[in-house]
Amino acid sequence: MHNGYIRQIDTFPVSPLLAEHVMRSILNFEDTLPRLKQLVEIDFTMAVEVLKHANSPFFGIRRKVATIKKAFSVLGTSEIKQLALTKIMFHTAGIREGSDIILFLKHSYYCALVAQEIAQSLPISLDKDEFFAAGLIHDIGKLGLDLSHGAESSHREIDAFSTPKRLGEEFTIFNICHDRLGMQLLNKWTFPSSLVIAVGFHHTPAEAPDQRVFPLIVFIANIIAHIYECEQSSRNSERSLLEEILMAPKICKIAEEEKIELRHSNLEIWLDRLKSIIINQPEISSLFSS
Ligand SMILES: [Fe+2]
Ligand SMILES: [Fe+2]
Repeated sequence: MHNGYIRQIDTFPVSPLLAEHVMRSILNFEDTLPRLKQLVEIDFTMAVEVLKHANSPFFGIRRKVATIKKAFSVLGTSEIKQLALTKIMFHTAGIREGSDIILFLKHSYYCALVAQEIAQSLPISLDKDEFFAAGLIHDIGKLGLDLSHGAESSHREIDAFSTPKRLGEEFTIFNICHDRLGMQLLNKWTFPSSLVIAVGFHHTPAEAPDQRVFPLIVFIANIIAHIYECEQSSRNSERSLLEEILMAPKICKIAEEEKIELRHSNLEIWLDRLKSIIINQPEISSLFSS
């Protein structure tokens, strides 16, 4: 049944708020490319579009493109501008109204920042940009469910953390969970396997068939982003549940195998890194508000 969703979904609407920023950037800024890259990095629907095009057979790249930086160099300035404009012209309608979509985009961006920080802090050499991209697009399946089931999904809080209970409810309603739907979409768009696995198993990294470090880091980054969001909105009671899910024995075991030290002290370090990045990027916060 859910194969129907995959066929239906080929692109995502961009949020009108960010569309306006992109339009202004394209029309007014001389130094458009760095500005556009910044905008693509904070609106994951744009990031998905850019990665999708860079991985399309049209460009004939043998090695798949897993980072936004590489996608920009494959596509070039005019292609990116054209993509952004086309997307804005044709796809601004249909996205949820209200503040939860902004909270959702913010959450995706925070998850990307933490995933990149964790990847950078490990003794093994990992491409931090690839983890940034994985964190940014991890919840793409939530938008997929939203688009294909507007009425049924409109009551769901799109930015809320998916506890095992919420995932179970999601499956009962849609016959698929957002993580696996996201994986199927990325497969359809021939994304690199690292991103496909990261998205598909970001709630169940222990079940990943290979490249487990990708979903594991996104799993941890997702929870740290949610802890930060809880702190910001004084929902402190949720923090203990999030930490409990993060420190579950099954997760600790695979983290140890992947040489990631999953300790409370590290959690605080990653959380503090996120806070300091956000404080030092006031221009990013301004992009999220009108
Ligand atoms: Fe998720
Ligand atoms: Fe998430």
